[in-house]
Amino acid sequence: MEYNIALLKGDGIGAEIVDSAVAVLVKVGEKFGHRFYFKPYLIGGCAIDAVGEPLPEETVKGCLESDSVLLGAVGGPKWDELPGDKRPEKALLGIRKALGLYANLRPAKMFPALKGASPLREDIISAGFDIMIVRELTGGIYFGERGIREGKFGEEAYDTEAYSVKEVDRIGRVAFETAMKRSKRVTSIDKANVLETSRLWRRTMRAIAAEYPEVQYSDMLVDNAAMQLVRDPKQFDVVVTSNMFGDILSDEASQITGSVGMLASASLGDTKRGMYEPIHGSAPDIAGQNKANPTATILSAAMMLRYSFGLGDEADCIETAVDKVLGMGYRTADIIGTAGGTPLSCSEMAERIVSAV
Ligand code: NAD
Ligand code: IPM
Ligand code: MN
Repeated sequence: MEYNIALLKGDGIGAEIVDSAVAVLVKVGEKFGHRFYFKPYLIGGCAIDAVGEPLPEETVKGCLESDSVLLGAVGGPKWDELPGDKRPEKALLGIRKALGLYANLRPAKMFPALKGASPLREDIISAGFDIMIVRELTGGIYFGERGIREGKFGEEAYDTEAYSVKEVDRIGRVAFETAMKRSKRVTSIDKANVLETSRLWRRTMRAIAAEYPEVQYSDMLVDNAAMQLVRDPKQFDVVVTSNMFGDILSDEASQITGSVGMLASASLGDTKRGMYEPIHGSAPDIAGQNKANPTATILSAAMMLRYSFGLGDEADCIETAVDKVLGMGYRTADIIGTAGGTPLSCSEMAERIVSAV
């Protein structure tokens, strides 16, 4: 089979991690007899520098014409003083919206070889954990009305959160359907003790739960959830939450697996086309030093094969290769942890994974 993949490398470590994932996809293509065609497009700070805007029309068009999209990361200190609607991050929100990608799946799973890199105690993680965070991606406070105005104390800024029943319902259904294929537990995370949007969220989730009697449903307040995630992560299976809570909790969940450099994601909508993106950012502190962990992006490419192309065996092959390389003790700097191992650069780690495919 042939597949057209749009590459949005973006800024900072974006190029190194996307190049790593491309190398792995090429190897998988050779092994299983598929052809992947890659076409790069500008997004974020590099697009601002090259053409004066973070999300050029050509990028949106190229993504819409592709079978799927692989993203590195956007942003960096160079563009941090730009107004909100001209920032690199605005392009990421824009492309998610333009492609209709309302569901962001972020799997936070214990890698047995990385126990020594997790900040959690052995007794907490000895039984492992396997959480699927289902984050709403095109609504909430990220997309609400905002601005600067004169308030009671002079100049003030505001951002607003709005969620419609329709938006909550569609992300809720993704969560319950996902749970049906896993261990049939859904925890919905909100702040219903304070926020009106969360009360609507909770009411809508409970209505869906009534349609899925096989799924064990619970809701939890977000502050408690942040605590429970480090107290006993294995209590969670599928977690469904709003755009902002999902952003924050997934970075927390990533670190208990060993590093933010391990956590992949799939951004999905109603078509087969998705965007696959590591959950971390452009890591300006290590950009250009060949130090980044490419695994999150490589595992995101595996998710692309599974969710957009229906290539489950090929996706398994990448995931097994990652496990094998970790099992052999190869480590980028972020996952060396206390147990040690063989330190590798970004490109060396990618080469090891390519060889293990
Ligand atoms: P970050 O995720 O870029 O980095 C946080 C820390 O994690 C840094 O110490 C970094 O070195 C480390 N890290 C991240 N990815 C790593 C990897 N693959 N391997 C090893 N270490 C890794 O978050 P930040 O520093 O808060 O943000 C930096 C920039 O990235 C900001 O401009 C932000 O807006 C942007 N950002 C973009 C995305 C995205 O494009 N999806 C996501 C998050 C942040
Ligand atoms: C992420 C990032 C983005 C988000 C930013 C860069 C807009 O943090 O993908 O997690 O908040 O969605
Ligand atoms: Mn984030």
